[in-house]
Amino acid sequence: LPQAVVFDLDGVITDTAEFHFLAWQQLAEKLGICIDRAFNEQLKGVNRADSLTRILQHGGQADAYTPAQRQQFMTEKNELYRQLLANLSPADILTGILPLLADLRAAGCRIGLASVSENAPQVLASLGLCNWFDFCADARALTHSKPHPEIFLTACRGLGVAPAQAIGIEDAQAGIAAINASGMYSVGIGATLAGADYRLNHTGELAWPDLLAHWQAKQACP
Ligand code: BG6
Ligand code: MG
Repeated sequence: LPQAVVFDLDGVITDTAEFHFLAWQQLAEKLGICIDRAFNEQLKGVNRADSLTRILQHGGQADAYTPAQRQQFMTEKNELYRQLLANLSPADILTGILPLLADLRAAGCRIGLASVSENAPQVLASLGLCNWFDFCADARALTHSKPHPEIFLTACRGLGVAPAQAIGIEDAQAGIAAINASGMYSVGIGATLAGADYRLNHTGELAWPDLLAHWQAKQACP
């Protein structure tokens, strides 16, 4: 049996990936930069500072602003994002997540969170999910954003589980890369993801018996 499952938050547990996009889009528009959902795929799983860098590069404004201005842009984006979070409630937990958490707990499998969002503790609290998690990686203590494996390795260490005995679930291409680089088994949620050990179109398709069967098949035939 796998000993732990580590979840990404935004876009896996709840649809806050859409809120991040809407907030960045509004900020980008102010700077005269147009971003769409296809471009946004490159921002998923990427921390705030790196996301801003990618947006400015995309708009041909890579060197246009001082560090203080960039800090101001990040603050503005975060304020827009937090306005969108205001009404978040347990009703916003994506389909399939609660039954999976319950099955994991019943199976004695540890549960971790690997979100690079500094807003993750608040999002988890608004969703009423804090008590399900045995360990949540602290985004503020990280050196690297996904696709670097640091956050998944930190989560495994916090859970006391070897990466090879753990599963990671992600909706971001950078997140799949991070899980794979950590040596964990990767589960991708989304039609366009590449490189996941096991890929589903949406969270409603997540089911513990299926996950277990796929994980076991990979152990038998790596
Ligand atoms: C990730 C999101 O979970 O967190 C990214 O996928 C986001 O879109 C990142 O930029 C950082 O979030 P925050 O809340 O710290 O700005
Ligand atoms: Mg995500």
